[in-house]
Amino acid sequence: MSAPRVVVLGRIPQPGMDRLAETSAEVWAWDSDEPIPDAERDAQLATATTAVTLLTNRVDAAFLDAAPNLRHVANVAVGYNNIDVPACTARGVTVTNTPGVLTDATADIAMGLILMVTRRLAEGERLIRSGEPWKWSMFMMLGSGIQGRTLGIVGMGAIGEALAQRAKAFGMDIAYHNRRPVAPDVEQRLGATWMGLDELFAASDVVSINCPYTDDTHHLVDARAFGLMKPSAYLINTARGPIVDEAALVDALEAGRLAGAGLDVFEHEPQVHPGLIPRDDVVLIPHLGSATEETRGAMAKLAADNVAAILEGAAPLTPVHVV
Ligand code: GLV
Repeated sequence: MSAPRVVVLGRIPQPGMDRLAETSAEVWAWDSDEPIPDAERDAQLATATTAVTLLTNRVDAAFLDAAPNLRHVANVAVGYNNIDVPACTARGVTVTNTPGVLTDATADIAMGLILMVTRRLAEGERLIRSGEPWKWSMFMMLGSGIQGRTLGIVGMGAIGEALAQRAKAFGMDIAYHNRRPVAPDVEQRLGATWMGLDELFAASDVVSINCPYTDDTHHLVDARAFGLMKPSAYLINTARGPIVDEAALVDALEAGRLAGAGLDVFEHEPQVHPGLIPRDDVVLIPHLGSATEETRGAMAKLAADNVAAILEGAAPLTPVHVV
């Protein structure tokens, strides 16, 4: 067995670093917000037994080839589409993620985007900052109320449920789509109705994407889906960009087949489709779902707790896949 050596491949908050320092492992960290260059990454991976990764670190065959002693990849994110999990499994590498601790922060951002886009908040803010003269009028910048409107949640996991709770408090009706309906008591608590995906697209006034990004959900929201949605509907995405076909979204907005969109994630992040930039009917924010001091600290700490557990021979707290 090689001596435990943890390499942290992106800058993480102090609670994670403090927890790693309590372990028996030697810890090395890339101390910059710039991405680690491949050559430096590979040099560090050569003797690593554990890699702590961010969602911007791609863990693929080349990564694993550079890491012959690797036993564990601890992703500091709930989404793990940056990691080839089957390739890790085939090489005996356990993968962990950080679910739970970012549920409320992400649901807050989804609810915030719903309010921003339906009430034209970013557009109004831009108007004030533009210095253009304005005065109140009865018909100025009318948005769309959400009370009694249907929120269709695609992916009723923890974040979907937390969003449903919030939207219910704002007076929205909740529909959702999951492969399998959630437990009846959860449906009852949230007042949520399961629908087939096409039915949900057609029935919703706001569609929110809250599912993981996988081969099955790539472009789940495409031209066909926009064809089913109401022209008065809004799309919210706080999950992963490539779940939405961004070119089809721009086409739908341009053709007036959708009222607007609130996006925290982008298909080719950090690039944003140029057709979205000038539009007042979209709200664009830079992947802020989990971006609070508390949440990012808790994510780093949970990732480090997983590292410590595995180093101590215990079961990881939040495994994606244990080998
Ligand atoms: C953020 O996007 C995450 O997956 O944690």
